[in-house]
Order: sequence, then C-alpha cells, then structure tokens
Amino acid sequence: MSKKIIILNGSPRAHGNTKELIKSFTIGAESKGHQVTCFDLQSMNIHGCMGCFGGGKDKASPCVQKDDMTKIYPAYEAADIVVLASPMYYWGLSGQLKCAFDRLFAVAECNLSYENPHKDCILLMASEGDDKDNFAPVENYYNALLKNLGWKNLGHVVAGGVLKIGDIKGHKALEEAKTLGASL
Ligand SMILES: Cc1cc2nc3c(=O)[nH]c(=O)nc-3n(C[C@H](O)[C@H](O)[C@H](O)COP(=O)(O)O)c2cc1C
Repeated sequence: MSKKIIILNGSPRAHGNTKELIKSFTIGAESKGHQVTCFDLQSMNIHGCMGCFGGGKDKASPCVQKDDMTKIYPAYEAADIVVLASPMYYWGLSGQLKCAFDRLFAVAECNLSYENPHKDCILLMASEGDDKDNFAPVENYYNALLKNLGWKNLGHVVAGGVLKIGDIKGHKALEEAKTLGASL
C-alpha cells in the first residue's frame, strides 16, 4: 500500500550531507510507490513555539502563529511516516528541525489530553563524529521522543565521518538510506 511520507529536513545546507541521505531515501521509497514530500526548513519562515498553550482550536491551522508551519500541518496530518532528517548539532538535532517539531505541539493541542497523532518515524542524520558514543545522545533522545509520543521507530541511518559538503559521496549510509526507503 502506498504510504504518505513527509521529511522534515533540518539541514541549513541545501546541498549538504543530510540532503544526500534524503535523496537516497526518497529514491528507495518512491521505487515502491510511496509519496514523499520534503520540507526544507531552512528556506521556510518558521518561528519558535511561544508556549502559549493557545493553539488547537482549528484543526486545519492549529497554531496561533501563522507562518510557514501552515504548509506543514496538513501534510503532517495526512502522513503515515515522519522522517526527521538533520545534521548532528551539538549531539542533538539542528535548531531548524527542533523549532519545527516543537510547533507540532499545536496539533496535539487539538486533543483534550494533548495526545499526538500516531505516526511511524525514521531518523536520517549526518555527523562529523563516527562512533557509537558520538551517536548515543541523539539515539537516547530519539528513543525517548518516540516512546513519549507513542510513535513507532522504523529505523535510523547515520552517516558518520562527514563534515564538509560532499564528504558523504560513496558513504555506505547512502545505500542504507535507499534500502530503508525501499523497505517501507
Ligand atoms: C553548529 C554545528 C554543530 C555541530 N555539532 C556536531 C556534533 O555535536 N557532533 C558531530 O559529530 N558533528 C557535529 N557537527 C558537524 C556536522 O554534523 C556535519 O558537518 C554534518 O555533515 C553536516 O550536515 P549537512 O551537510 O547536512 O549540513 C556540527 C556542525 C555544526 C555547524
């Protein structure tokens, strides 16, 4: 069955290593007939969550702030799978991705108990460091996030050892991302 997949791309580099992971993943997913929509957050006007707890009144546009998140909300609502794609920044997600993700709280606000819509999730990440210890803080965060949201992890792909644009060329993670996309 064809699935709807949204990718939240938190890399500020339009042609960076994260984008290459996204391209490979997309080739794999589209080869199986899935619909992939990528949001390049860096080029979008997305403000930080204000913590006002004033959202959730309009399902189509749940946040009080009317910026480019209004483009993401309907796609998020319809998505079966959410892909978090990011460079590793200080052993976490990039600010661009964290900022957009916080704003998804407005969707949870549509439910009295703040329950989030249930999604499947994938993490794609590029990082300079290249060992298990380097990825451990992100892995812990990702697992805790999904557990608390009640989301299912479909897998993660980390391209370690990549710093500059283009470093990812020939990296085994590209094939892993394509395989993961094609496995859905
Ligand atoms: C602000 C900043 C913070 C970073 N923090 C880390 C880090 O904590 N661990 C790491 O392994 N690499 C870190 N890096 C390196 C990036 O993760 C790496 O360059 C990655 O390939 C960038 O992906 P991109 O090409 O999609 O931008 C950092 C880079 C920047 C600019």
